[in-house]
Amino acid sequence: MSKQDSRRIVMAANWKMYKNEEEAAGFMSQFKSHVADPDVEIVICPPALLIPTVVREAAGTSINVGIQNIHWEMEGAYTGENSPAAAADVGCAYCICGHSERRHYFEESHEMITRKAQAALSCGLYPIVCIGETKEQRENMETMEVLESQLQASLAGIEGTSDILIAYEPIWAIGTGIACGAAEAEEAIAHIRSVLRALWGKVADEISILYGGSVKPNNVAELMACPNIDGALVGGASLKADSFAAIVNYNK
Ligand code: PGA
Repeated sequence: MSKQDSRRIVMAANWKMYKNEEEAAGFMSQFKSHVADPDVEIVICPPALLIPTVVREAAGTSINVGIQNIHWEMEGAYTGENSPAAAADVGCAYCICGHSERRHYFEESHEMITRKAQAALSCGLYPIVCIGETKEQRENMETMEVLESQLQASLAGIEGTSDILIAYEPIWAIGTGIACGAAEAEEAIAHIRSVLRALWGKVADEISILYGGSVKPNNVAELMACPNIDGALVGGASLKADSFAAIVNYNK
């Protein structure tokens, strides 16, 4: 079976902490006209404050909205945090969990990420769980081992489900303009799938695994030609409507 038959293809935009309301609305009105009939599932993850704007602009299209981070409790005395239930309530369908910037700058642990992914699942959000090695780990030939232990730790105790997506994001490729070569990305992602298979059995073949790290209109097709790569998580190149549309339309 080709990957297109068995798994959804997802192109997700991670806007990080960029854009104001006017810019978000402007992006959406331009972007919509370029992706009228997409072959892939589109997810826009704006900063939390701009979610209502993007949800409003996406109304009547197949564009999904995601949140970049949630807390693991549905409510509580957690000043400044985002409730997963509220995210679902305002129209999010996806949630990024454990992006390396969250792990690094906000000291998110594997355990926190597991709890966030579980919380997302429990309120109907699809978690996109991010993993990836550092430059040093790659140079020391530790990539496969690191991915395996990150995956096992971040998914500990979660029952196998194709509602979870994984994003393989080598840290050295994020925001650097140095994308992982397609062959290396495929090798890492095939390994991730085999770890998922050992953990969860056959459902591993239904799980969408995305590549992230300097994806651009000019390298997306090569990455997407790899049998195990089911989409992309895109930072910098998702901020401009024409560039993210070119990524979404990679096979048109
Ligand atoms: P980038 O970011 O595309 O700018 O490298 C990817 C990400 O952080 O998800």
